[in-house]
Amino acid sequence: MVATGVLLAAGIGAAPPGTAATTPAVAAVTPGDGLALTPPMGFNNWNSTHCRAEFNEAMVKGIADIFVSKGLKDAGYQYVNLDDCWALPQRGPDGNLVPDPVRFPNGIKAVADYVHSKGLKFGIYTSAGTKTCNENGFPGALGFEQKDADLFASYGVDYLKYDNCNNQGVDAKLRYTTMRDALRRTGRPIVYSLCEWGENQPWLWGKDVGHLWRTTGDITDTYNSMLGIAKTNWALADYAGPGHWNDPDMLEVGNGGMTDTEYRSHFGLWAIMAAPLLIGSDLRTATPETFEILGNREVIAVDQDPLGIQGRPIRSAGGIHVFVKPLKNGDKAVLLFNEGEKTERVTTTAAEIGLPQATGYKLRDLWAHTDRHTAGTIAATLPPHGSAMFRVNADRGWAKYPPAVDTGAALQTVYPGALPLVEPGDTASVTTTATNNGRLPAVTVKSVLTGPAGWEAVPESPNDKTILRTGESTSTKWTVKVPANAKPGFYVLAVRTTYRPDAETRFDLEVRVPPPAPAANAYVSDLTWLSSDNGWGPVERDTSNGEYGSGDGNPITINGVTYAKGIGAHAPSNVEFYVGGRCTSLTASVGVDDEEGTDGSVGFEVWANGAKVADSGVMTNDMPAKPITANITGAMVVRLVVNDGGNGITSDHGDWADVRVACG
Ligand code: GLA
Repeated sequence: MVATGVLLAAGIGAAPPGTAATTPAVAAVTPGDGLALTPPMGFNNWNSTHCRAEFNEAMVKGIADIFVSKGLKDAGYQYVNLDDCWALPQRGPDGNLVPDPVRFPNGIKAVADYVHSKGLKFGIYTSAGTKTCNENGFPGALGFEQKDADLFASYGVDYLKYDNCNNQGVDAKLRYTTMRDALRRTGRPIVYSLCEWGENQPWLWGKDVGHLWRTTGDITDTYNSMLGIAKTNWALADYAGPGHWNDPDMLEVGNGGMTDTEYRSHFGLWAIMAAPLLIGSDLRTATPETFEILGNREVIAVDQDPLGIQGRPIRSAGGIHVFVKPLKNGDKAVLLFNEGEKTERVTTTAAEIGLPQATGYKLRDLWAHTDRHTAGTIAATLPPHGSAMFRVNADRGWAKYPPAVDTGAALQTVYPGALPLVEPGDTASVTTTATNNGRLPAVTVKSVLTGPAGWEAVPESPNDKTILRTGESTSTKWTVKVPANAKPGFYVLAVRTTYRPDAETRFDLEVRVPPPAPAANAYVSDLTWLSSDNGWGPVERDTSNGEYGSGDGNPITINGVTYAKGIGAHAPSNVEFYVGGRCTSLTASVGVDDEEGTDGSVGFEVWANGAKVADSGVMTNDMPAKPITANITGAMVVRLVVNDGGNGITSDHGDWADVRVACG
């Protein structure tokens, strides 16, 4: 209130102060205004384009066209929304925002009209600040709430995303409420999306202000970003409901930074959390897999269930999560999610998810689109980062569906927890296992393992079983011959289990042919790595971390000494690479990079075949580089770890200067 008064006194604002408490002249915009009774679904350009030039009229119209032509409109996607950068940096002579004439040569109303002509709805963006978030400084709505709300209504806007940048320290609730009231006064029903990134606990007050509120900072197109955001959002399940939703940010499905397995988990997590489903990829160039994920109506139905309960984890431990979302018709939606890096068989039961005692249950697989019955166990073998999604009920007619058999495969690795690596020309041992979770027996159960062309899989034990009773498993050992000319990369060994009556179940085991092991002494920064991850930005080769994009680091410098070679990490960090038993030692000079002034404390660890073989102890920024030597004799895989030194990850730029392996 005080702050608005200050703004008005300074002549910045046009909206009357204190409007938050006044009675609206028109029907209420939330609560209870009948909008967003299920989580909003649609599109927003931001995750795909940011402020780049391809965000323009052609794109927006193209998305609206695709919503119709590809069936996404029929699947429930409705809003076509513009994000930041649609306006010019200056307001016009009348004080109104001016659409960028290059991006939107026909103005915004024309685009809104086009979207409406397709039977869709149209959304726009601005910030509850003096400027929006983009560095070009587009005008925000603070102090111009009514003017901008009126303009948006005149465009035919149906949805407003209201951001938080340049907010001048004005109380968030006041800023967001002022715009709510301005929207109300337009008389137009407008879904109101609060985007203050969860900074002011909007779940505690947002219900009376908007229809959805961001719970976190911005998502990026990486598995770790998606996962971190999901975790924050799933803890807030109590606050969501029809007309007021937690918003874990827009979808990244299809943007290329995650695998399709990860995108399915992303989409399934958002659906079980009753999150808004705003597509964030350019559908004009999307793959069939992207359409298959985004268009999965059974998963969408979970998100859009009219009961509007946000699903929550009923069990979460060791990276294994079991989510349940009660649905209007009494069914339970279940998401099994494997957060971690190893294949896991994940199980729950009808009792654990809260279904009544029954002889059998119907189990609908929402990705395979199959019906099975179970005596109670709900199980799936999940690859790293993978998930399975079911709809379960105590259907009396359960016996008409085949028993639910879950199948999986595991590669025998050189040490427990190792990546599933196979060498060209080698043989590998794989065990496939099928388990009957049904009440009725599965009959004539047969598992077949198939590799890519040129790979051979031979069963070393029987791969069929006449009868598999409730709860029984059958396993088969396979020898897999890897072709001598197999190139480094990922390959799928697919197990398919068939059984009567007329059913099958599958699992894809992904194995990897690693890059060749170093044949002579080598710098680790010159090797192809198996994987790398960092607390901030990508792991850099031969420079410090830099924190954001790849290649933004500085020369590696520890206490004034500069190194031409090495690895620039940021805690928590892992770099894993293949040495194939051909190396004997690893050496490096480790320390905190000077680019962080005096801050930062980390620890450096070397792991060989899953066992720690060297540890620097805590290193702080004022310490000179410490030499580190690790015995890696006989190891197949080496992992370099930078931990946070026990005090959080702030400024933890850990350098592996001169890190190299002795091999050959
Ligand atoms: C903020 C928001 C994003 C996006 C950008 C646009 O970062 O959180 O979702 O709207 O601004 O500049």
